[in-house]
Amino acid sequence: MKKAFIKSYGCQMNVYDAGRMADIVSAEGYGEAGTADEADLVILNTCHIREKAAEKVYSELGRLRDMKRDRAAAGRDTRIVVAGCVAQAEGREILRRAPAVDAVVGPGSYHRLPGILAGLSGPVDTEFPEADKFDLLPPPSRRRVRARGVSAFLTVQEGCDKFCSFCVVPYTRGAETSRPVAAILAEAGELLAAGVREITLIGQNVNAFHGVGPDGRAWSLARLMSRLAGMEGLSRLRYTTSHPGDMADDLVAAHAELPALMPYLHLPVQAGSDRILRAMNRRHTADDYLRLVDRIRAVRPDIALSSDFIVGFPGETEADFAATMRLVESVGFAGSFSFKYSGRPGTPAADMPGAVPDPVSSDRLQALQSRLEADRQAFNRGTVGRVLDVLVEKPGRHPGQLNGKSPFLQQVQVTGAAAAPGDTVRVRVTGTAPNSLFAEAVGAAPALDAAA
Ligand code: SAH
Ligand code: SF4
Ligand code: F3S
Repeated sequence: MKKAFIKSYGCQMNVYDAGRMADIVSAEGYGEAGTADEADLVILNTCHIREKAAEKVYSELGRLRDMKRDRAAAGRDTRIVVAGCVAQAEGREILRRAPAVDAVVGPGSYHRLPGILAGLSGPVDTEFPEADKFDLLPPPSRRRVRARGVSAFLTVQEGCDKFCSFCVVPYTRGAETSRPVAAILAEAGELLAAGVREITLIGQNVNAFHGVGPDGRAWSLARLMSRLAGMEGLSRLRYTTSHPGDMADDLVAAHAELPALMPYLHLPVQAGSDRILRAMNRRHTADDYLRLVDRIRAVRPDIALSSDFIVGFPGETEADFAATMRLVESVGFAGSFSFKYSGRPGTPAADMPGAVPDPVSSDRLQALQSRLEADRQAFNRGTVGRVLDVLVEKPGRHPGQLNGKSPFLQQVQVTGAAAAPGDTVRVRVTGTAPNSLFAEAVGAAPALDAAA
């Protein structure tokens, strides 16, 4: 039997797409390979967000080229496909730079992989077809879903119309589109039937969701979640990634009204200086963001917030950076991602003057990250002594130990619980390690509505 290996880079959307591609190639008769070396078909599901991410693909392709050549000498065939956002951004150029690549398929057209693999269509497909590509995919395989555990991603929205001046996503993922509610509910039903207990709704700009409902109207993300929250077997809901400009009132309210919706929100702000936010075309000020945080905390005081930051955006001064640090201090994030600005071809910011020298952005990144890390540790220490519900994911390293997640997305090692993956146990947090919490079971968690 032939085997396929899919390697994913980048965001959760790519993780999700890789799962769907695994289902497609499995329907084409490929088994799953554990590594590229065992595979007859290698798919690199790529990310274009920063230069480093994109370049990683070419070094991997160099290695695969050698493997393909050695195998060809031994009479064995290898096929290499580049999928994802680099495929979309660079298209045919990939075949020129890396001739060992057999096909290039963008994130809007991977449902056409069977035809491409059969040589029925050209080697480059970067169209964004009109139809919902998800309708054309085989349903997620139960076995594969089960193997991935109790927590699953579900793409509900794709693409982005925000055009932040630094970002490639509007170009690589195309215009913002939402999946129909019925398709999402059907997929959620499949996931729950396969044993999933936590669903994270994902999209590049997930809170812009406006999928058409069974009533023919556009449903908001909040309305979709309130429907999902009532589904048999679902314990937890999350959503990511949100734009501050799309935090509608009903979505804020959902954080108070839906017990299944976990008190954790990834809400990227990018920077704390209004001048830089304007140059980034973020469409919000630092103050807008802080007021939004207040509104969310007013309805859900214990919510954990996280963000993304870019330092060294063109023209960023010490004063601008200080404004970012002030914003960080006033919010107190439970965790965050931060990056050095990377100029991306085709984006407006790539042509902006005022490049920040690398040593300066490195220093700023370090200062920001040490503050964010201190805040994350402080948040974790703040949960010590508290009683929380943990969704059990797998057995722990030691006998009698279980691993799971807190409502705040912290990894928790639980002792004293007799529970299985997928169960929710109530624990008291007893201590912290750098990347997890320790806790002791205090009993089974009551039903969701009672825990509210
Ligand atoms: N849709 C999400 C995330 C998009 S990409 C959002 O709107 O926030 C994830 C993160 O990568 C971004 O939040 C941003 O912080 C970072 N990023 C995007 N483009 C970048 C660039 N050119 N240089 C450095 N970081 C970038
Ligand atoms: Fe990129 Fe901005 Fe869209 Fe996020 S909101 S995906 S950062 S353009
Ligand atoms: Fe990367 Fe594309 Fe996701 S550029 S971050 S894989 S949307």
